[in-house]
Amino acid sequence: MSLSTQPYKGARDFYPEDKRLQKYLFSTMRRVVERFGYEEYDAPILESLDLYKAKSGEEIVNEQTYAFTDRGGREVVIRPEMTPSVSRMVAGRRQELGYPLRWYSIPNLWRYERPQRGRLREHWQLNVDVFGIDNLNAEHELIVLADAIIREYGAKRTMYTIQLNSRKLMDYIMNDYLDLDSVQSHTLSKLIDRINKMERPAFVAACDALFTPTQRDNGASQKLLEILAVKSVSDLPQVIQDTPAAIEIRDLLQLLDASGVTNAEFDITIMRGFDYYTGIVFEMMDTDPENNRAMFGGGRYDGLVGLFGVEPVPTVGFGWGDVTLANFLETHDLLPKLTSETEVYAILIGDVYNEAQRLLATLRSEGVTIAVDSSGRKLASQLKNAVKKDIRFALFIGEDELKSGQFNLKDLRSGEELKLSAERVVSTVLDGRRQ
Ligand code: HAM
Repeated sequence: MSLSTQPYKGARDFYPEDKRLQKYLFSTMRRVVERFGYEEYDAPILESLDLYKAKSGEEIVNEQTYAFTDRGGREVVIRPEMTPSVSRMVAGRRQELGYPLRWYSIPNLWRYERPQRGRLREHWQLNVDVFGIDNLNAEHELIVLADAIIREYGAKRTMYTIQLNSRKLMDYIMNDYLDLDSVQSHTLSKLIDRINKMERPAFVAACDALFTPTQRDNGASQKLLEILAVKSVSDLPQVIQDTPAAIEIRDLLQLLDASGVTNAEFDITIMRGFDYYTGIVFEMMDTDPENNRAMFGGGRYDGLVGLFGVEPVPTVGFGWGDVTLANFLETHDLLPKLTSETEVYAILIGDVYNEAQRLLATLRSEGVTIAVDSSGRKLASQLKNAVKKDIRFALFIGEDELKSGQFNLKDLRSGEELKLSAERVVSTVLDGRRQ
């Protein structure tokens, strides 16, 4: 049996053209988050299993982690998310760091999921977190920042929505309004999290099964379904609208609206899978129904840093996956045509490899990226190779050219061919970067 050339299930190889796209996605993210004053950090891909047992949702630890025992008998996991690692790092230097702390990272994460559209086993995720702000300005900043990222890719606000909810609001609804105990509340939140993946009758039946006969007699199911159907905070029963949690959502929506983020809305079904969120939670959705998975998700989690035995730090953050983002950009035709990082393909006319070295070195020292076709093949196949590699310019180098110091430079994008000195080759190629 021959060896497979396929990568591991749910993971991707990145051929140069794929890597080019990834670099475009990440450099855009980096540019925007740095514009907001965020600093990049990183952490190891392996963490101790204890970290995840303590801090993530149950589903992710029990069903989705790649966990194993290392040669020294330690139980470790390949990180399925970055939030516990970044909390560990902040806790480790709790006293020394200057707050508010604005940090970002683009780690690769592993989750044992069933691969499907928008879901893989390995994905990269932009994590942006702000530590040390205990008011809505943090949520506001992060959502405005996420909005700025997607707009940097050329998206219009009609192409996506930002949905908000609040753990505090849901806690109030479950504990006080519906009078559920903690087990019922936990089951219900997991159920609401899956509301869009379930058939309606199955969802209603599952809700019904959750209540005690007395709760059912008191109309709990009806009350719950009515609440889950609301589209804005002002549709909620008055007693819920008057809670600090509901007021907070309203205030945040107003703040966002004033910043021009007009496509944010309240969505009571946004639960978020992790148990660590403590306040506002949010997600971004593509308005195209073909991409029905959240592009990013996040929220406030004020308790994680404190779990390391240091004083807690109020924190808000989000994670934004590369897979759903690429699907979004593709669906809305926002992917640019990306050319190779190599700008020039040197095509040798005859056996001038040695003689061409000085010119090549000069061009490289001026910052031009240049690959030389040293295969000795026919000119036509060398040229074809440049096109196949998505290289912008072909530079023809032969004995005559080296003697006269004039070289033909062909722009493979426009088809234009010019005879230029080495100096002009440099300026033309460098100018080409701006077009
Ligand atoms: P999450 O909702 O699990 O949150 O993931 C955030 C985003 O990562 C998702 O909206 C999706 O774009 C992407 N994503 C997640 N799993 C996969 C997958 N299997 N394949 C492809 N993309 C995926 C978190 O991970 C939180 N730790 C985010 C956070 C940071 N909260 C606060 N700070």
